Amino acid sequence: MNAILELDSATTQGNTEEPFQRYYAEAGPDYAAWSPNYNMHFGFFRRGMNPFSREAMLEQMNVEVLDRLRLDPAARTRVLDMGCGLGASLRSFAARLPFADLYGITLVPWQLEQGRSLNERCSEAKSITLLPGDYERTGLPGESFDAVYAIESSCYGAGSGKSAFLREAHRLLRPGGRIGVADGFVGRGSWRGPQKAICKKLTECWVIETLGDIEEFKSELLRVGFRDIVVEAAQWRVAPSFLHVPWVTLKFLCTAVWGRRRMTRARWNNVLAPILLPLISQPVGPVGYYIVSALRN
Ligand SMILES: C[S@@+](CC[C@H](N)C(=O)[O-])C[C@H]1O[C@@H](n2cnc3c(N)ncnc32)[C@H](O)[C@@H]1O
Repeated sequence: MNAILELDSATTQGNTEEPFQRYYAEAGPDYAAWSPNYNMHFGFFRRGMNPFSREAMLEQMNVEVLDRLRLDPAARTRVLDMGCGLGASLRSFAARLPFADLYGITLVPWQLEQGRSLNERCSEAKSITLLPGDYERTGLPGESFDAVYAIESSCYGAGSGKSAFLREAHRLLRPGGRIGVADGFVGRGSWRGPQKAICKKLTECWVIETLGDIEEFKSELLRVGFRDIVVEAAQWRVAPSFLHVPWVTLKFLCTAVWGRRRMTRARWNNVLAPILLPLISQPVGPVGYYIVSALRN
């Protein structure tokens, strides 16, 4: 994994046109400080787990999302990760779904390169194909997947109902297929004082157009053709991993800031955003973490 952190600037400078791609090209390698397996998401805590073991909680998030897709591990299924990062969740799924064909799509070429090289080093990852593209218009054939999921990537979709993302998910799923989404949304509670401005800054830092709104997201799911929608508030489940942020940030600042790679604006933004997040999150603000699952009509 250190090989990835050691990437020279030539490798990380390819995609500088779009602010989104620049963010991920520059700040992407820093995610290694959060997760050696490149799980680019928060963790899920269950009673009995060690709250100090961050990677175990991050891995548990993969397990929780997989559970909600209700796939038969003995069947030959096709699954798509919509916003796959470096494919950590897919590698976790590959170990649990030995007969499945697993696909991931991401907009960021750097992630594809690094994800593919991580897959080559993982014996279970032979069934994984990583594809370049936009999850709102994948160009993949309709009704070709048994399940699709998105872990902390649906937030990048357009609008607060994430309609285009959900329409494409619906198109890609076969009837009876399932979607699973784990992400931060604006949910219960109201904005107080400067919280709206803080949220705007946070979304700028992570190059998100606007956070999803959980009620609108639910309505959109229904509107585009999903049913059996289950929305689970998981704010307290992610809190133990969230508490790792100050420590990881400090460690990161002590090593990376004085390291070989220049601290660009994108890298600073990736330090700032998780510091802002608790200021607008439940219970002090309306932003919460949710796991949403649904069945395609
Ligand atoms: C925070 S990362 C999460 C990555 C991964 N799901 C994980 O949990 O490790 C967000 C991911 O969403 C991807 N993404 C955002 N918008 C996208 C889009 N329109 N199409 C494809 N991927 C997108 C980014 O490229 C990135 O890989």
